[in-house]
Amino acid sequence: MRFVSMNNCFQGVYNRKRILITGHTGFKGSWLSLWLKELGADVIGYALEPPTKPNLFDTLCLNEKVTHIIGDVRAEKHLYSVFEKYSPEFVFHLAAQPLVRLSYKEPTLTYETNVIGTVNVLEAVRKTDSVRSCIIVTSDKCYENREWIYGYRETDPIGGFDPYSSSKGCAELVTAAYRSAFYNPKDYGKIHKAALSSVRAGNVIGGGDWGEDRLIPDCIRALSQNKAINIRSPQATRPWQYILEPLTGYLLLGALMYEDGAKYSSAWNFGPNDESIKTVEELVKLVIKYWDGGAYTIDSSSSQLHEAGLLKLDASKARAMLGWKPIYDVYEAVEKTINWYKNFYNDMRKEELYEFTVMAIEEYVSRMSEVYRRRGEGD
Ligand SMILES: NC(=O)c1ccc[n+]([C@@H]2O[C@H](COP(=O)([O-])OP(=O)(O)OC[C@H]3O[C@@H](n4cnc5c(N)ncnc54)[C@H](O)[C@@H]3O)[C@@H](O)[C@H]2O)c1
Repeated sequence: MRFVSMNNCFQGVYNRKRILITGHTGFKGSWLSLWLKELGADVIGYALEPPTKPNLFDTLCLNEKVTHIIGDVRAEKHLYSVFEKYSPEFVFHLAAQPLVRLSYKEPTLTYETNVIGTVNVLEAVRKTDSVRSCIIVTSDKCYENREWIYGYRETDPIGGFDPYSSSKGCAELVTAAYRSAFYNPKDYGKIHKAALSSVRAGNVIGGGDWGEDRLIPDCIRALSQNKAINIRSPQATRPWQYILEPLTGYLLLGALMYEDGAKYSSAWNFGPNDESIKTVEELVKLVIKYWDGGAYTIDSSSSQLHEAGLLKLDASKARAMLGWKPIYDVYEAVEKTINWYKNFYNDMRKEELYEFTVMAIEEYVSRMSEVYRRRGEGD
């Protein structure tokens, strides 16, 4: 059963457009590539090989659906040659070294990939006349963390305790500098015709992530082998959100930037409602519930690396200016995520899993339309 047609999603802006996604072989990049394909876009992906085995990109055979280019964002000439060849109208920059713990072991790699890689993408954009809308994906961790109980706003100071967080803070500063120096909104339509934004989202969950040192993948690795889940920082709170929530934010923003670059070129938070901010331990209990069993232990070793205790995003700006809002609460987000993995570990065939994943997007779009329709009626 299909839910709704996606034809009118984002007012059809992406239909037949050339979209370059860096990091398309990753968890978020695979979902974004799939969604854009369903919206009729011509997707060009540029990334290293999928970072894990298994991975969503291979599971869904996305190499058959997109123009799949293996490349390094640190290799500026190769990156630029791809921009030159395909003349993208939209750019979504997701490629990154995204792991906090790895950034302690590999700080140089982390900064080169996340900071210089971002500069290289922006330089390629600058040399390519076709780009009208460019979104740089950073993180909720880009803010200077003060353990506030309230959410960070887009105007709060950028920082980052560890190399990953600070590299994402640096990527924010780079993006802001390119926006003021080369893509100033006040010159939009006169000196240039591109809009440039950065986006900050929370801890994203969904089917098909096997990233190292991430809570849901750690849970799934343990549960699928009938082992207890070992958790660090059980009391740390995180803004958990379903994969399609920030992706909706990115797609909505990209479409609006394409229509009115001067108005929407900016920095944007896409965080969940307060009810979805749960501790690590609470989330693990939900995972066990939807997996229908399992156990966990708490890692109390003293050799733990620093991790922020409290982290919230204030998404008021995206709500007010873009009309974006979260659709699923944390319970639905975890349930849908776990159902995807259950299918995978029950050996669902690749074609069926592909169809199931597309249906997850269609179901979400259907719910989104319903929420927006009710809001239009003043509910
Ligand atoms: N997953 C989350 O919860 C989360 C939260 C906040 C921000 N983010 C950000 O979202 C983006 C995507 O994250 P993800 O969860 O999909 O990560 P992922 O590890 O699944 O994917 C990372 C992607 O980047 C590519 N990549 C890594 N180094 C590269 C390089 N040097 N050159 C080209 N490609 C390279 C990988 O091949 C892969 O395609 C990242 O920028 C990450 O920092 C993710």
